[in-house]
Amino acid sequence: AEGIVIAIDGPSGSGKSSTAKGVARARELRYLDTGAMYRAMTWWMLHQGIDANDAAAVAEASSRPVITMGTDPAAPTVDVDGTDVAAAIRTQEVTTNVSAVSAVPEVRERLVALQRETIARARREASGIVVEGRDITTVVAPDAPVKIFLTASAEARADRRSKEVETDDVAATQADLARRDQLDSSRAASPLTQTEDALELETSNLTLDEVIAIVVKLADEAV
Ligand code: C5P
Repeated sequence: AEGIVIAIDGPSGSGKSSTAKGVARARELRYLDTGAMYRAMTWWMLHQGIDANDAAAVAEASSRPVITMGTDPAAPTVDVDGTDVAAAIRTQEVTTNVSAVSAVPEVRERLVALQRETIARARREASGIVVEGRDITTVVAPDAPVKIFLTASAEARADRRSKEVETDDVAATQADLARRDQLDSSRAASPLTQTEDALELETSNLTLDEVIAIVVKLADEAV
């Protein structure tokens, strides 16, 4: 039998990565962080000296970097041209520029193809995969049997993200999340959108373990 696909979308700081990893570990599934792929592409552009806001230059260069994702949820990896960029893609410079790069259709085409290949392999070779991002339920895997839209209040999201990046400036973090959400939701190519057929999970007042348990239960019911 083919493995299951669990698709999770939501805005920045909604808890997608922690949830997706937790579910994958609980059910021995693979794990794919598609945001890390857009960050890797952005890191490479900056590293090459390409202006992230020059859409034509980004489009033209987008086929050059070789991005390789390791899908073990206990130790996910991100490589660009053989270099481990797991830490480099979390810098403020990459975070500031990633929405511009991810709005370029050629970038999305390339990464969505890679994401679909990764999903197909996990379905053949493993029990399935948990995939998280902004367009997984709508574009990458619209036929996934489990589709979830994670949300949380702006305050809860800023709080969580501030702890993650170890800053006390929650207000600045909230402003940065709002800016990125606005860009990601308003772009022409595959904007972040909540659809009717994805289950909305509002997580402001839930612990991570509670959210993971809800998604695991949905996955168990779907197989
Ligand atoms: O999930 P994360 O915050 O790391 O994603 C970084 C950025 O990558 C998002 O702000 C968005 O611009 C882009 N992204 C996307 N489509 C996805 C996942 C992420 O456009 N499926």
